[in-house]
Amino acid sequence: MNAEQLISTAQAMVAEGRGILAIDESHGTIKKRFDLINLESNEDNRRDYRQMLLTTEGLGEHISGAILFDETLRQKTRDGVSLVEVMNKAGVLPGIKVDKGAHELAGHPGEKVTEGLDGLRERLAEYAKLGAKFAKWRAVITIGDGMPTSACVEANSHALARYAALCQEAGIVPMVEPEVLMDGNHTIEECYEVTEATLRSLFTALYEQNVLLEGTILKASMVVSGADCAEQAPIEEVAEATVSCLRNAVPASIPGIVFLSGGQSDILATQHLNAMNQLGPHPWPLSFSYGRALQHAALMTWGEAPVENDKKAQAVLAHRAKCNGYAAMGRYSDEVESAK
Ligand code: 13P
Repeated sequence: MNAEQLISTAQAMVAEGRGILAIDESHGTIKKRFDLINLESNEDNRRDYRQMLLTTEGLGEHISGAILFDETLRQKTRDGVSLVEVMNKAGVLPGIKVDKGAHELAGHPGEKVTEGLDGLRERLAEYAKLGAKFAKWRAVITIGDGMPTSACVEANSHALARYAALCQEAGIVPMVEPEVLMDGNHTIEECYEVTEATLRSLFTALYEQNVLLEGTILKASMVVSGADCAEQAPIEEVAEATVSCLRNAVPASIPGIVFLSGGQSDILATQHLNAMNQLGPHPWPLSFSYGRALQHAALMTWGEAPVENDKKAQAVLAHRAKCNGYAAMGRYSDEVESAK
């Protein structure tokens, strides 16, 4: 493990005004996205779509890295240039999703544990050769009747910590993602409690597994009201609760925290991030690692005429990346949003 290299990569991922583009949808998830635009999910279409995103001019201005799915890390553009090379030229760090998805946790109906540790050392060695500089592993925590159980939280923290240690051994920065799902009718207070307990459990496990925190990025979910909760906490409250929760549970040695969008609308995800940064300074940069909230509008534009609409869709993506880059500095405004 080269600590200096891990630290400098982690810092580059959260450089000022920049964040992560998450395009690591599994085959099942990208099919759901393509269903929205009535496009078959096959290898060529997935390549065309992700090539469009990654060849956006000036992408590196507000995007520091992109998380890819295994297939994409190995793919070439229609002109035969590897997508990793395209990213390197654009100053966008290649990242790779390495977990094997969330599966039913035996003995705990309704809860999940993320799998993928078997053979991970070998897979990481190959990914490092293919050019991956960071990786992602997503754990899923569900809030509900009697959930989450400590068994679920601890099983997921343990797996995240084992994954993180293996990444660092391979010279790859681990992005650890314990996602507390928005699904359900829970209040923002319940979300706060579960998120804090989850983060505390995660950082205990990272400590036990000897993970270098300075070479680790936290991908967090925001503290929000459940999607079906009658009372939706306003932007300011979400920002204050999220920042307070993180300050209570995340060591200052973490080089940066990036958020997932988790089903929030594009603009709300940007507004939440901006509001949090306006409450700063914080012990760590707060930035974004959005999937849906960065891609949705671009996907819709592209879907009207795939490939033919590349430039139009790229302009839409570049705009969202810019808005979120400004939000990462607490400088987002209606003017930035409407300046196309
Ligand atoms: P969303 O922003 O769509 O939640 O995706 C981010 C991600 O990578 C979840 O693992």
